[in-house]
Amino acid sequence: MIARTTIDNVFETARVEEVVGDFVQLKKSGSNFKGLSPFTDERSPSFMVSPVKQIWKDFSSGKGGNVVAFLMEHEHFTYPEAIKYLAKKYGIEIEETVQSDEQKEQANERESLYLVSDFAKDYFHSTLLKSEHGKAIGLSYFKERGFTDETIKKFELGYSLDQWDAFTTAAIKKAYKLEYLEKTGLSIVKGEKQFDRFKGRVIFPILSMSGRTLGFGGRILKSDKKAAKYLNSPESDIYHKSKVLYGIYLAKQSIAKEDNCYLVEGYTDVIQLYQAGIHNVVSSSGTALTSDQIRLVNRLTKNITVLFDGDAAGLRASLRGVDLILEQGMNVKICTFPEGEDPDSFARNNSLDAIRTYLKEKSQDFISFKASLLAMEAKNDPIKKAETIRDMVVSIAKIPDVIKREVYIKECSRIMDISEDVLFDTLAQILQKERKDTGKKTVAPQVFNVVTPEKQSVRKINILYELERKIIELLLLYGTVEEEFEDLILETNEKGEIAFKPETVKSKVFEKVYLDLQDDEIEFANEDFRVLYYEIINKLNTDEGFQIDTFINELQSEKASSITDILMDEERYNLHDWESKQIYVKEKTHTIAQVVSETILNLRRYLVTQKINELSEEIKVQEPDGRENSLQDIVDYITLKKVLSEKLNRVL
Ligand code: CTP
Ligand code: MN
Repeated sequence: MIARTTIDNVFETARVEEVVGDFVQLKKSGSNFKGLSPFTDERSPSFMVSPVKQIWKDFSSGKGGNVVAFLMEHEHFTYPEAIKYLAKKYGIEIEETVQSDEQKEQANERESLYLVSDFAKDYFHSTLLKSEHGKAIGLSYFKERGFTDETIKKFELGYSLDQWDAFTTAAIKKAYKLEYLEKTGLSIVKGEKQFDRFKGRVIFPILSMSGRTLGFGGRILKSDKKAAKYLNSPESDIYHKSKVLYGIYLAKQSIAKEDNCYLVEGYTDVIQLYQAGIHNVVSSSGTALTSDQIRLVNRLTKNITVLFDGDAAGLRASLRGVDLILEQGMNVKICTFPEGEDPDSFARNNSLDAIRTYLKEKSQDFISFKASLLAMEAKNDPIKKAETIRDMVVSIAKIPDVIKREVYIKECSRIMDISEDVLFDTLAQILQKERKDTGKKTVAPQVFNVVTPEKQSVRKINILYELERKIIELLLLYGTVEEEFEDLILETNEKGEIAFKPETVKSKVFEKVYLDLQDDEIEFANEDFRVLYYEIINKLNTDEGFQIDTFINELQSEKASSITDILMDEERYNLHDWESKQIYVKEKTHTIAQVVSETILNLRRYLVTQKINELSEEIKVQEPDGRENSLQDIVDYITLKKVLSEKLNRVL
């Protein structure tokens, strides 16, 4: 168990915007940051981070919370994993309370798989650098390929000895369980015997975006026609081939900074380019590109440049995968290499300047690239040409941005020498078909996918909900703040008239709220709010040093998430240009006391009005002699409403 002091220390030090910023490209937006949701495919940013409140909210998926919640959602960390990650990031020493054997055993399975993988990574790496065979075989291989010591360390490359079970034996000796060795695929169990999967191979560890070891690629060194050149970890609870990109951990910062990501085919392409000084490079490692992989990049940049080998036979097939990138609204460029060269050899044989220049000059817009390629293929073949045009327009149809689509149609028309009208017609057909097929507007631009129109009207109508929600928000943000509240005391003045006398009372916001609502015996109508309200009041009442983040940390995730909703609600207004839509947003020039009083009064007045309406309805169906009491009640309530209105006027 991690000691309480460590956890507190982590929460004090960690900045949600910095932690999230490692995974999502954030842009400053007022006092907040915003970016693309890392949880959905979206094109307009609805993901907000509030440095002031130290929380985040993803309006498109509804998720939200504090810094730990982000890591748990995004990296699928457990709570302790998230704390450890943060401690590492901020250089905080982790104090552990002593663990019993039982607790050790309970440490969950995924964590065990990570631990085993981490051990394997270190083991292979040190075998490469320290063991006799490692140096003679593995290290000399990497050196021959031109990798420097620094690069080998940076990528933590390794070597698995050419023995049946050297690694497995070493791991078991260190008390790693065979069960996990097998589940990660590092060891292959056959009856009583165990074998090392990567026997005799050099090792490329595959890391997650946050630097956890997920799996491995192993390259054979002998030229053996029967064995695969590369062997990869099998799918496991922690390794999903379609969701990883080799090199992403080392590349992520550079990708965001350069606002572009180079995508290559192999491990060695990544390493060689990185070594040459191009750091924003990742590889899909031999598999066809998947949406999940693109999504990883989409969090960091909108721009991908795909680098194809000079002799890529399956170029056309690979192009299909590129449509996936367009679908996510990203800009794709293609760069091919001279015959017989791949990024690996090209990076090795050229200076950084030359590589940079080449990439810059040869990177071609994907659509133009495809058009020229297809145009060339179909030059003298009318049937092929018709096919090609359709193929081309299918790609263009994937682009969510209407303006961009139009530009491409024009470009395509020029390259393929065909009229724009025909292309636009084809585009319209394809779009219509797609809409029918998917039943939703996959290709139409989504401008506002955060607040749907229906929701807006509901929000406007449901005043009670809004007021209750506002009260919760005020309690969370300012609960313990001491303010001077002006109250009005009814009294008879010297002329015998009833008048208000202002009186200032000093109290904490939560006390004011609680006492005022209790006065009128107000219960929240919304059940979730009611539960939260009492929980918060109770917490504020018992905990002197109330802190929102610690409070949220202690809540069940469901409640924590609804609190984040409430806290981030006002940020929602910043997301869109509400003013241009003529939705009135109040200036925040009022004092806390004013806002608190106003909200309470509004709520009370609303409830009183409701009561008056109810009674008026009742009276209509009552026998005449029963009406008197009800009438008196109504009169009383109307008086109260007047008082409340008067108070409200004074507050504002
Ligand atoms: N690959 C694989 N399994 C194979 C062959 C290839 O997983 N049997 C993946 C690897 O990730 C490899 C990538 O596909 O890096 C590209 O394959 P290839 O171009 O053959 O490998 P290179 O990276 O060029 O490897 P090398 O230069 O070491 O031959
Ligand atoms: Mn190669």
